[in-house]
Amino acid sequence: MKNPGTPSPIGVFDSGIGGISVLAELIKALPWEKFVYFADTLHSPYGTKPEEAVRSLSLKVTEFLAGMGIKSLVVACNTATSAAINEIRRMCPFPVIGMEPAIKPAVELGSAGKILVMATPLTLKSRKFNELVHHYQHRAEIVPVPCVGLVEIIERNPSCSQEVEAYLSHLFSSVSAEDISAIVLGCTHYVLIKKEIAHVVGDKITIIDGNSGTARRLRTVLQNARLLNTVNAEKSPIPVMAQVTFYISGIEREERLAQCKQLLRKEGIFCEEPVS
Ligand code: DGL
Repeated sequence: MKNPGTPSPIGVFDSGIGGISVLAELIKALPWEKFVYFADTLHSPYGTKPEEAVRSLSLKVTEFLAGMGIKSLVVACNTATSAAINEIRRMCPFPVIGMEPAIKPAVELGSAGKILVMATPLTLKSRKFNELVHHYQHRAEIVPVPCVGLVEIIERNPSCSQEVEAYLSHLFSSVSAEDISAIVLGCTHYVLIKKEIAHVVGDKITIIDGNSGTARRLRTVLQNARLLNTVNAEKSPIPVMAQVTFYISGIEREERLAQCKQLLRKEGIFCEEPVS
């Protein structure tokens, strides 16, 4: 059955599988839309590269996705957003949504204690992040926590809890849980290991990511631009299969593709290639 309404897909990209955590929320919020997901695994990780290199890679991926006829783009990567969102917006004639560490909701919790922001070194160094911290630092103590090497562990095997927990135990070894009110996941890869983070830091600390906020924002932006698929959601049942086309730039594409689909299945999402 062909959907009426706007048939063009929504582009989503990340340096690897991290953006799948965002894609899952986008599919839940917009189940009638088609998606094109690009994992730039050939150049992963982005977070330890120079800003200029990440900007150039992000623009190349954007150009590729724009060539696929997308109607909107979600930069499902905090690092690419910090390095290149202005340039990406300048080159796109359609709406572009970026990611930013969810410091605002963490501050608005109003709890006493530090807010830790886990992110890549490049995100934490960026001007965008430092402006965000500056904006909220009178309301809470915000502590950047660079997580060098964590993206690589997750990319190798997102379900290897042992390796992830060993990394996290070391990372938080000098931190006292009583002093912390919240941890912000400022990298979309870390959302895939939320359970392990909770296991290591304990359940008294709120762990916040920006993924559902990003999905809500995309919905509003598409609605305002009259770009939402116009299927009448009340009359049509939610499609059983999500419509996603995957592109993977690196080696072992079949394994990567299987990994992406497996991560979506964990969220109860099954997908198929859309029929154009
Ligand atoms: N998922 C990317 C982010 O949100 C990971 C960056 C990387 O490849 O280092 O920042």
